[in-house]
Amino acid sequence: MTQPKRYLVTSALPYANGLKHVGHLAGAYIPADIYVRYLRAQKRDVVFVCGSDEHGTAIPIQATREGTTPQAIIDKYHEAMKQDFEDLSMSFDIYHRTSSPLHHETAQEFFTKLNDAGELEIKETEQYYDEEAGSFLADRYIKGTCPNCGSDRAFGDQCETCGRTLSPDELINPVSTLSGKTPVKKKTSHWYLPLGKHEQFLKDWILEQHKDDWRPSVYGQCKSWIEGGLQSRAVTRDLDWGIKVPLKEAAGKVLYVWFDAPIGYISATKQWALDQGKDWKPYWQDKETKLVHFIGKDNIVFHCIIFPAILMAHGQYHLPDNVPANEFLNLEGDKISTSRNWAVWLHEYLEDFPNKQDVLRYVLTATAPETKDNDFTWKDFQARNNNELVAIFGNFVNRVMVLSHKYFDGKVLMGSELTSVDRGVLEELKQYPAKIASSIEQYRFREALSEFMNLAR
Ligand code: MF3
Ligand code: ZN
Repeated sequence: MTQPKRYLVTSALPYANGLKHVGHLAGAYIPADIYVRYLRAQKRDVVFVCGSDEHGTAIPIQATREGTTPQAIIDKYHEAMKQDFEDLSMSFDIYHRTSSPLHHETAQEFFTKLNDAGELEIKETEQYYDEEAGSFLADRYIKGTCPNCGSDRAFGDQCETCGRTLSPDELINPVSTLSGKTPVKKKTSHWYLPLGKHEQFLKDWILEQHKDDWRPSVYGQCKSWIEGGLQSRAVTRDLDWGIKVPLKEAAGKVLYVWFDAPIGYISATKQWALDQGKDWKPYWQDKETKLVHFIGKDNIVFHCIIFPAILMAHGQYHLPDNVPANEFLNLEGDKISTSRNWAVWLHEYLEDFPNKQDVLRYVLTATAPETKDNDFTWKDFQARNNNELVAIFGNFVNRVMVLSHKYFDGKVLMGSELTSVDRGVLEELKQYPAKIASSIEQYRFREALSEFMNLAR
């Protein structure tokens, strides 16, 4: 296999509406950071981008909750998340933010380019409107019963209980969260991305070309989406927080957050290039670049179907080569939940275990939810620290140091000083870098780590 000329690696842009926890870290950040550090160690050309996702209704909702403005919310959480990631040694080349003027411009240019090229369609639809509040209701502002699992706490965009992506029309007994009243339908126009137009392409590209190299869970979700029929998706919203739709006739409308956010990877790369005096274009537009998105499983359709369709419609972009999405991490047998405050928050971990970021990184990699949901428990955390990091790895390093000082004056033996036993051991050790590299290149970080521990063992 020929090596890619360069790599562009992304971690999901976290919403700037709250602090992040170990589930986020295990899902989209640690694996990406391992991959990138490995590539850099191999002297490959790699750029690793991330940043805060500062649009969408999650932000004004949090502002209401905290009795402040959306701007204050994004400023606060952007700084806090940036700090958490720094404290945990995430080696982003840039941690950007989608409220930056450069990002607004980039997203608007994308919209204009697609619209001018006839890649979008305008449709008039009826949408839920809260007469008491006097505004259209973003999907997140509508609550109701999930048609999939029956939970009565589903939102108009997604059911948090079963994870299913929803549209407000699918909700049973919709209620506005602004007023608590049943919303009415009112006419409005929006710009849509006709996904159906890209169906054949998506089928060939994903279902044929990526049959073997995408994770089965990622492939499976894409397959069921494609086979379920690809509907047109609105890329604009009636909302006053977000990136203005760059058209006179679209006053009061903003770009849908899932239209602008992935473009945030591009604007982050542009900002990095500006800062470094480099050219961003080859990282996105050259076929010889390998583009890899690290995300959690709730982001799969956006990264594997919708964003690629946007890139395709634009015409000048290279599509993702892989999207190694992780499953979810539970905590002590229960789903992690921000609203129930059932989580290990990153800043709290670091307060309780100062300078022990590597222990957390180790445990979250050893139990990474790569193929199924996994459980984080403190008992396991303790056992892995004591029985693996200390007893195997620490012991290995310790013995090497102590014995080489005790018997060999601290010198490493070479050439003719080696016995045949030494040679045998060295031969065996030589196998490991290739084994570990091969696991990493296939995004099997648990396996890579366990090979590494076998080496120490
Ligand atoms: N903010 C989203 C989430 O936390 C992820 C966005 S990834 C993006 O689920 F880059 F596409 F923005
Ligand atoms: Zn559900």
